[in-house]
Amino acid sequence: MASKRVQDIAKNLKELPKQYVQKESKRPIQTSPPSSPIPVVDLHLLSSSHEDEMKKEMERLRTALQTWGFFQAIGHGISSSLLDEVGQLARDFFNLPMEEKQRYSKIGIGGHEDGMEAYGNDIVYSEDQILNWNDRIYLLVTPEEERKLDRWPENPSTFRQILHEYSTKMKEVGDFLLKAMAKLLDLEENYFVSRFGEKATMFVRFNYYPPCSRPDLVLGLTPHSDGGGITILLQDNAVDGLEVLRDGEWVNVPAIPHALLVNLGDQMEALGHGISSSLLDEVGQLARDFFNLPMKEKQRYSKIGIGGHEDGMEAYGNDIVYSEDQILNWNDRLFLLVTPEEERKLDRWPENPSTFRQILHEYSAKMKEVGDFLLKAMAKLLDLEENYFVSRFGEKAKMYVRFNYYPPCSRPDLVLGLTPHSDGRGITILLQDNAVDGLEVLRDGEWVNVPAIPHALLVNLGDQMEIMSNGIFKSPVHRAVTNSEKERVSVAMFFSPDPQTEISPADELVDTMKSRLYKKVKAEDYIQIFLKNYAQGERTIDWAKV
Ligand code: OGA
Ligand code: NI
Repeated sequence: MASKRVQDIAKNLKELPKQYVQKESKRPIQTSPPSSPIPVVDLHLLSSSHEDEMKKEMERLRTALQTWGFFQAIGHGISSSLLDEVGQLARDFFNLPMEEKQRYSKIGIGGHEDGMEAYGNDIVYSEDQILNWNDRIYLLVTPEEERKLDRWPENPSTFRQILHEYSTKMKEVGDFLLKAMAKLLDLEENYFVSRFGEKATMFVRFNYYPPCSRPDLVLGLTPHSDGGGITILLQDNAVDGLEVLRDGEWVNVPAIPHALLVNLGDQMEALGHGISSSLLDEVGQLARDFFNLPMKEKQRYSKIGIGGHEDGMEAYGNDIVYSEDQILNWNDRLFLLVTPEEERKLDRWPENPSTFRQILHEYSAKMKEVGDFLLKAMAKLLDLEENYFVSRFGEKAKMYVRFNYYPPCSRPDLVLGLTPHSDGRGITILLQDNAVDGLEVLRDGEWVNVPAIPHALLVNLGDQMEIMSNGIFKSPVHRAVTNSEKERVSVAMFFSPDPQTEISPADELVDTMKSRLYKKVKAEDYIQIFLKNYAQGERTIDWAKV
């Protein structure tokens, strides 16, 4: 049965229906004005022919995207009269008699949530579902040939024509923004446009929030981030209502007349490195959950005397003691080969947490893409053929994951989570703990903290990459320090050339001006020597120098 539209409920309200009442912790409380103003970006200036002006505005865009994830766009080139018309269109449509609006509805179909185009409100799936105080009409506008015109209102009579016009302009603004964002990230201008593809879709959602006598109990829309790429919002020019969560507080986003609010969706966030925040959070949680299991459970994935990593063996463990004077790392780990898939030793892959294998599999697949992308980008940086490193790594290239666990330590001044080292393989991509710092890198003789940026991945070159680049790329020395109160986890993914590959500087990088700096060494031999040196706290790269 079609649920009643919110507009109808609001009109004849005697008592607030309980399905709309938010749980106490979710109820809207008095919001604060933003402590710093919501960023405004002038799109016109982003393409200014005055270099300084353009660069300044690009920096504003960068800051806006990094700190807020959204901004008010002005200078977007859409006339105020068109924007006013679109706003009026929304009002006029929702003010039609219910019977008229219902022509664009489908029984039980509410639009948006189920991806269905229609007029409607929340579909009730379960009794305890809490509903949004919101009616809407949701329509696909691009590609044009996929429009379902039977759901496009004919009343107001200008509806279709104005929406068509607005969509055309919006498509331009959207493409412009995608290009600007690619440039910000030093990507090729069309990177995002082509990732979106020719079949990219654009949907419009007209929202209607009836007045509500108890704004303290209900929400127009419950907290969410948008799932897609970019959202461009035209706000009501007279009534505020949008709030954004910032440093744990809800702040009001006031409407600026004729500005458009640009908001990044989850998929846009993911496009930077191709991995969604939710997957990254899951992987971090996986690490925590695994290490927090009872020791007996974890030991199922261990082998007596085998610690993982140092000897290249896959297992749960910690440092293997080779000698009495060896100084040990304050670190437990789980080290596993993830690629090639057919070489996985699944008996060492935890089955607890129950999602472990599936999430690690998913993460590895995404990481492989990121790794290959990086190898290509690095080849291009060195003016080598794009696939140079990918083919040197070979079809039998390996990818290993290392889950690191650093328990709290009462004397962080005396111990190290990991002693200074550079990574021995090709590339490392590290997912850091999102709450506790600990990684440090040696820079000009000083240890500097590498703070975790939420959902960013840290890329770190290993010795073998230094060798292949003939020293143009450096493998940095880094270490992990401990924390007296908090445990810390990290997840390192190591990209390793085929063990049989001969690692040597690329011929193209050696000429009369620049001599060959490293000798040729088989990848697996390098790792063997590396692991021995590592246990002694020594570096191996110097050994490889000619
Ligand atoms: C590593 C490493 C750093 C960290 O696993 O090789 O350097 O922050 N980890 O855990
Ligand atoms: Ni390392």
